[in-house]
Amino acid sequence: MSFPIHRPRRLRISKAIRKMVQETRLSPEDFIYPMFVTSGKGVKKKIPSMPGCFQLSADETVKEALKVHKLGIPAVLLFGIPEHKNESGSEAYSAKGVIQKAVTAIKDKVPELVVITDVCLCEYMSHGHCGIVKKGKILNDPTLELLAKQALSHVNAGADIVAPSDMMDGRIAVIRDVLDAQGFEDTLIMSYAVKYASAFYSPFRDAAESTPKFGDRRSYQMDPPNRREAIKEVSLDIEEGADIIMVKPAMCYMDIISDVRDTFDIPVAAYNVSGEYSMVKAAAKLGWIDETRIMMELLTSIKRAGADLILTYFAVDAVKEL
Ligand code: PBG
Repeated sequence: MSFPIHRPRRLRISKAIRKMVQETRLSPEDFIYPMFVTSGKGVKKKIPSMPGCFQLSADETVKEALKVHKLGIPAVLLFGIPEHKNESGSEAYSAKGVIQKAVTAIKDKVPELVVITDVCLCEYMSHGHCGIVKKGKILNDPTLELLAKQALSHVNAGADIVAPSDMMDGRIAVIRDVLDAQGFEDTLIMSYAVKYASAFYSPFRDAAESTPKFGDRRSYQMDPPNRREAIKEVSLDIEEGADIIMVKPAMCYMDIISDVRDTFDIPVAAYNVSGEYSMVKAAAKLGWIDETRIMMELLTSIKRAGADLILTYFAVDAVKEL
């Protein structure tokens, strides 16, 4: 028995009815707002490839964090642009590093805001890779110690959650061990468990000044054609102690978000990355799309696919539309 008994259009007849039967709703709590922290004071430098995003000094980061908190967004994710890069990425784990200072400043002024830090060496290494490099190879095991040091220094500065994005094998276990040994057994780890070697990161690399000086990240980040492998990566990270896992990028990887959501019971985050953001901004600037509608459709779709949390540069604009 179908038509004329069944008329699916009845459920779309008015805005009020549509709202009543809407299956996916965005709320400010869904979002995590990423920010780029640089050295200095009073710095708010535009990022040309990411209109609306800035490199901010710690004091400016605090101002932005206050705004974000007032809008009801529960968390920020911080990326650091150090003053100096070198072969050991030493500013990544310096107690006086840009991130460490910004974390302390934010927690001081906006203590309820959850501060998440990106744990990765690419912004701090002179060669721009996410690990120690020897003879053109990115070394896994020696890198783990540096990542753990970096995570610990962020937590010492006051970070609530550390988010390793380096894609070295075994780093969740090592970070968990070090944090527990130092009495930080209640600090969360949000693992970039499923991170693809994606072309969608290029505006971010301008923003964070982290483009690799040679080669690419394909020997450590996942290969975009692979779907089953995502399940393996998440299983390993959960075993190692991840509290929240992430899929990245989001837009072209909604099948992965959905698989991971269906397979595991822990919170799933998805990263609506820089290239996804910049494409919308660029097309909108040309007058080819309706920026607000596209933004909301994109974010709603990421949630519909199964993400509990969405990391997005649109967070502030999106919340204003809710
Ligand atoms: C650092 C890192 C990257 C992103 C988040 N953490 C870049 C990369 O792996 O090259 C990308 C975020 C974005 O594109 O918005 N490893």
